[in-house]
Amino acid sequence: MTRLIHLSDLHFGAHDPVLVEAVEQRVHDDAPDLVVISGDFTQRARTEQFQEACRFLERLREAGHDVLAVPGNHDVPLYDVLRRFLSPLTRYMRYVDNTLCPLQEIPGATVLGINTARSLTFKDGRISHEQMDFIRETFERTDPNSTRIVVTHHPLFALALGESIAPAVGRSALALDAIGEAGVDLLLAGHNHQASVHNARDLVTRAGAALVIQAGTATSTRLRDQEQSFNRIEIDGGSVTVTVESWNGSAFAPQDAQRFEREGDHWRIAEKHMEQAAH
Ligand SMILES: [Fe+2]
Ligand SMILES: [Fe+2]
Repeated sequence: MTRLIHLSDLHFGAHDPVLVEAVEQRVHDDAPDLVVISGDFTQRARTEQFQEACRFLERLREAGHDVLAVPGNHDVPLYDVLRRFLSPLTRYMRYVDNTLCPLQEIPGATVLGINTARSLTFKDGRISHEQMDFIRETFERTDPNSTRIVVTHHPLFALALGESIAPAVGRSALALDAIGEAGVDLLLAGHNHQASVHNARDLVTRAGAALVIQAGTATSTRLRDQEQSFNRIEIDGGSVTVTVESWNGSAFAPQDAQRFEREGDHWRIAEKHMEQAAH
């Protein structure tokens, strides 16, 4: 079995240190094969916020955990206009990861990160044509029996967010073609601060068979209708279990678990457990 912990939207600078400590403890206890962090490490891309993120990552890595990260829109400076356009991700690359297209091949899964954070389309992000080619080429040369996972900060789909709809990343229709052609199984993203799991085909008609897994914010104090949470993802051959671990005021506890089974080119819900995290 391959086990991932999927964190997102840590937002150092607008974070709760109690939750940061709780997340670290859970990572140590669960000992996943990989920790995936889908962007928004900081609140305002300031140096001291990146330094806090860096210390968090160092503690995880020193304890022996592998981490795969992509930047989010909050990791690009918003008000520092010179830096925003001339060197938008310099601090991210110095303090978080020096690659913007990380690839990790672990037993049972191939995980590719794609940077969607941009200076111009600041909030909604974008995927380039080169990145779409890169997705296709990467999965052409990786293990065909391994579960294929793509990680972005911005979701590739428009998703309901309260009464409104949060838009998909720029060029999402073309990106979905690449994802479908590359046979990607799981799409992991954040940005909306809301945890959810969907079949890609239930969201748009022209999509591959991917399971769309959104993580909430793990440690930010800025919430949208949901408590802080992270996802635990267990992959066992053709079966994937996604458990949302939600903050209940004193600990992260499983609130919602769903198991999906691969049936041809579709993920079928095999089991669903909904639990209200005890307050
Ligand atoms: Fe965020
Ligand atoms: Fe974001």
